Amino acid sequence: MIVLLMAGCTESTPAVFRPQGAAAREINTLWWILFGMGTAVYVLVMAFILFALFRRRNQATQADDPQKNVVNGRRIIWFGGIIIPAVILVVTYGFTLDVMMDLRLPTNNDRLVIEVTGYQWWWEVVYPGEDAITANEIYIPAGEEVLFELTSADVIHSFWVPELHGKMDLIPGRTNIWKLEADEPGEYWGLCAEFCGMQHAKMLFVVVAVPREEFDTWLEAQRQPAVAPTSAITQAGLDIFLEEGCAECHAIRGTEAAGDLGPDLTHLANRLTLGAGSVTNNRGNLAGWIADPHGIKPGSLMPTSGLSGEQLQSVVAYLESLE
Ligand code: CUA
Repeated sequence: MIVLLMAGCTESTPAVFRPQGAAAREINTLWWILFGMGTAVYVLVMAFILFALFRRRNQATQADDPQKNVVNGRRIIWFGGIIIPAVILVVTYGFTLDVMMDLRLPTNNDRLVIEVTGYQWWWEVVYPGEDAITANEIYIPAGEEVLFELTSADVIHSFWVPELHGKMDLIPGRTNIWKLEADEPGEYWGLCAEFCGMQHAKMLFVVVAVPREEFDTWLEAQRQPAVAPTSAITQAGLDIFLEEGCAECHAIRGTEAAGDLGPDLTHLANRLTLGAGSVTNNRGNLAGWIADPHGIKPGSLMPTSGLSGEQLQSVVAYLESLE
């Protein structure tokens, strides 16, 4: 089950019509203006067509003065075909330009900057200078503008949180700057909005906006290395993690695991989902994910582990201890 269903879509209207931040609100307003103007033009054109049909059937036009018809025809072309469309396009351009100006990136740099890197098919989230790395979940302080440095490790992805802002591409070898602001604390689901391969549809993330104090506490906790194993089974889990190849791809800060191909798992137990929004993060799904990632996300770059049942139990116990 795609977790987006349980989160973003519980209300009947699409998230883009429920803006929760300044940028999304501007875009939403512009959308309604353009929709309104488009509708008005459509209704008007249809009215003219109906009028023309109606007139032709009920009034004989042959008797009209041909010279007058030519003049009227020219007027219709000048006004209906050139002047009125030009006015409408200029007004549309004006509204669009106004929104673009409002959405300009801030010029001073005293904002929190978060680096987001797109991978097939998950998101790495790094808080610069903070030793805080997570995946598929972006904590931000509510009511503050946060800057994002977006890039990609493989193909082009697109970063989109419909309730907070429009889309921005993540392009390999390039960094795009983007900003997000959430008015109120809450969870805002985001998704990849650019087809990027087999599991493009399962490339979700969540922006968690929390009050500033809570954010600082969260960040402090994320900076900490992983908790050391406190029982025989979690110790066994860590040993298996290091010996059976998991550590080739995943890092757990505070241990020897330092792989950088897959998500950093230092605080995995706190995350809401596994597989970038594919399933909720609970014991059963975690075991299922490790035993057979392709059963949940076909084409996932995580290989099937081949652990025995007992080894799997230990690894799951260890990973679940990583608060
Ligand atoms: Cu990443 Cu679509």
